[in-house]
Amino acid sequence: MGWRRRHLLGTRELAREEIECVLDTAADLMPFATGGRERRRDLEGRTVASLFFEPSTRTRTSFDLAARRLGATVAGFAVAHGSTVKGETTVDTARNIEAMGLDAIVVRSAHAGTPDLLARHLRASVINAGDGAREHPTQALLDLYTMRESFGQIAGLHVLIVGDIGASRVARSNLWALRRLGAEVTLCGPPTLVPRSFEALGARVVHRLDPELPHADVLMLLRIQHERHVVGAIPSVREYARLFGVNAERAARLPQHAVIMHPGPINRGVELTPEVADGTRSTVLRQTRNGVAVRMAVLKLCLEARAGG
Ligand code: CP
Repeated sequence: MGWRRRHLLGTRELAREEIECVLDTAADLMPFATGGRERRRDLEGRTVASLFFEPSTRTRTSFDLAARRLGATVAGFAVAHGSTVKGETTVDTARNIEAMGLDAIVVRSAHAGTPDLLARHLRASVINAGDGAREHPTQALLDLYTMRESFGQIAGLHVLIVGDIGASRVARSNLWALRRLGAEVTLCGPPTLVPRSFEALGARVVHRLDPELPHADVLMLLRIQHERHVVGAIPSVREYARLFGVNAERAARLPQHAVIMHPGPINRGVELTPEVADGTRSTVLRQTRNGVAVRMAVLKLCLEARAGG
């Protein structure tokens, strides 16, 4: 099956072959993703804009680099200085930006469903760079790329995701994509952050970390998202770190081959101690590097599908 999607709105809708197509395309593009002199021209003459209504370091920068390294022009849009602060709707903002001759819009929003809404109103490709707690598809795709790089395949891996699962778009996008490719997923954290309802989506749900560590091929830590919580979800950050934070002692209970992942940004000393975050099993910076190639693949596939009608 080839890639036929003009938009990337989530991993939930992706077939196994589509996920593999992104990962294979990213592998082909990797030599051009790392900032060497050689440039691709796949997207020459195309313009890509980023519309980020929430902060970002990794996603925004890597989409910009991905577009440039495929030969596209990038139109940065400073939301803080845009007319949404004067009351313009997101759709009107996006349509006006599109009217200047855009081929793709990369959007991040605090509101779940914003990318889908824009996709219904725009002719440009819409790429979801994170919408509320719903999806962050390119993060999951770069996480799968990193797992495949480490283990050769995804099927059969035991992936233990720990943290603020209920509020996490990264957890949801990873869950859909990992299950589609045949991995086992266990979600771990306090009951206030990891609802049992995730079992209906194909995950195991557990509330104690230590018994799970010896069985994990991949340990993925997720940030406590203070910005999405009312107070009271956890008794204290110190208590959370004591029960669910990973230090060298906990890391030593993992199988020797296991890797430790985090999408960033890290709350150092909460999800991971610095020695684990910066240790040899940590894939944190490799994930960030792989994000450029994966986002190159997504832009190339969606824009080529759009050109193909
Ligand atoms: N992982 C991630 O989405 O990071 P940013 O918020 O910095 O883009």
